[in-house]
Amino acid sequence: MIIGVPKEIKNNENRVAVTPAGVIELSKNGHQIYVQSTAGLGSGFADEQYEEAGATILPTIEETYAIAEMIMKVKEPIEPEYKLIKKDQLVFTYFHFASYEPLTKAMMASGAVCLAYETVEKPDRSLPLLVPMSEVAGRMSIQEGAKYLEKPMGGRGILLGGVPGVRPAKVLILGGGVVGTNAAKMAAGMGADVTIMDVSLPRLRYLDDVMPANVNTFMSNEFNIRELIRNHDLIVGAVLIPGAKAPHLITRDMLKEMNPGTVLVDVAVDQGGCIETCRPTTHQDPTYVIDGILHYCVANMPGAVPYTSTLALTNATLPYAIQLANKGWKKACQDNRELLLGLNVINGEIVYEGVAKAFNLPFAPAEKFL
Ligand SMILES: NC(=O)c1ccc[n+]([C@@H]2O[C@H](COP(=O)([O-])OP(=O)(O)OC[C@H]3O[C@@H](n4cnc5c(N)ncnc54)[C@H](O)[C@@H]3O)[C@@H](O)[C@H]2O)c1
Repeated sequence: MIIGVPKEIKNNENRVAVTPAGVIELSKNGHQIYVQSTAGLGSGFADEQYEEAGATILPTIEETYAIAEMIMKVKEPIEPEYKLIKKDQLVFTYFHFASYEPLTKAMMASGAVCLAYETVEKPDRSLPLLVPMSEVAGRMSIQEGAKYLEKPMGGRGILLGGVPGVRPAKVLILGGGVVGTNAAKMAAGMGADVTIMDVSLPRLRYLDDVMPANVNTFMSNEFNIRELIRNHDLIVGAVLIPGAKAPHLITRDMLKEMNPGTVLVDVAVDQGGCIETCRPTTHQDPTYVIDGILHYCVANMPGAVPYTSTLALTNATLPYAIQLANKGWKKACQDNRELLLGLNVINGEIVYEGVAKAFNLPFAPAEKFL
């Protein structure tokens, strides 16, 4: 199969969908890979490395889209890319269709086959192509939180791990899923005094079993949250209710209960945030202060560490890409239900129910096209 890897053109996106290691694996399976010049540069991969791995470098995005039977990307296509996508072309990338109708309509009009990273789903209902980015964001939340706890950055001036004779910082993590668990591991490793809250008792039991001694678990409810925010220095928002907006677990009035200089990192900002006063920020201007409480609410945290994020993402996407390239999308989706669930738009029709519902558009089951 002919695979095209365009350079991401969305603002501040430095990740790339295939690394030179991925090119070697795909080539070994008999596929030809065309990479747009400088596509990998933001993640630390030069054109020469792709060429050595067996890819052909193309100078423009137009040529990369024009030659490919399958496009591998990271972010959803943006407007200038819409017209480059061809009928019957397979596009394998993050789409997040339900949040943007013009993209959905444009992909329907293109006649392409859109397989979305975010809806590829394992039998246990986990989302294998979202997990790596949650791992990155969870770990980063503590790195960023520790930085903003420093006085010159606006925080309380507390060192996360403390020192002998001085207490460490207290870190509260709301939500013990992928983000929360990774945040807890980092905070615990740095010597903080960590509490994770979740509404799932089985999850709390599991975390209690696997976490080190400086991590406590606590049932998440309003009473407990009000109690704990009074004496915690760094609070990480990491809740998710699949398919819904995040619930506001910390409301505006609660800010007054916190110590001035407390740092809030709301990782769930991409689902509306679990802190009422959270609004999306960027890496250029990541924080703001309300009632003396510092808020960090960057919506694409992994974007700051493209080297790690690209490798984490491509480790997860490559096995699926190889199946798609080896078998063609129809046979690959027949053989693997995880990939079948990734199909969102085929030949002008919406085949993912949640997307059709979001815009009140007709839905056709993907099986119809296999
Ligand atoms: N900002 C970013 O750059 C970025 C990057 C990756 C993920 N995220 C977001 O981070 C959030 C968390 O993702 P995840 O992968 O950890 O999800 P997850 O499904 O693995 O975990 C969510 C957890 O929240 C818990 N939860 C639900 N309601 C709760 C409540 N009221 N109180 C406490 N816990 C509650 C669930 O039981 C679950 O354990 C998502 O919104 C995701 O989109 C953001």
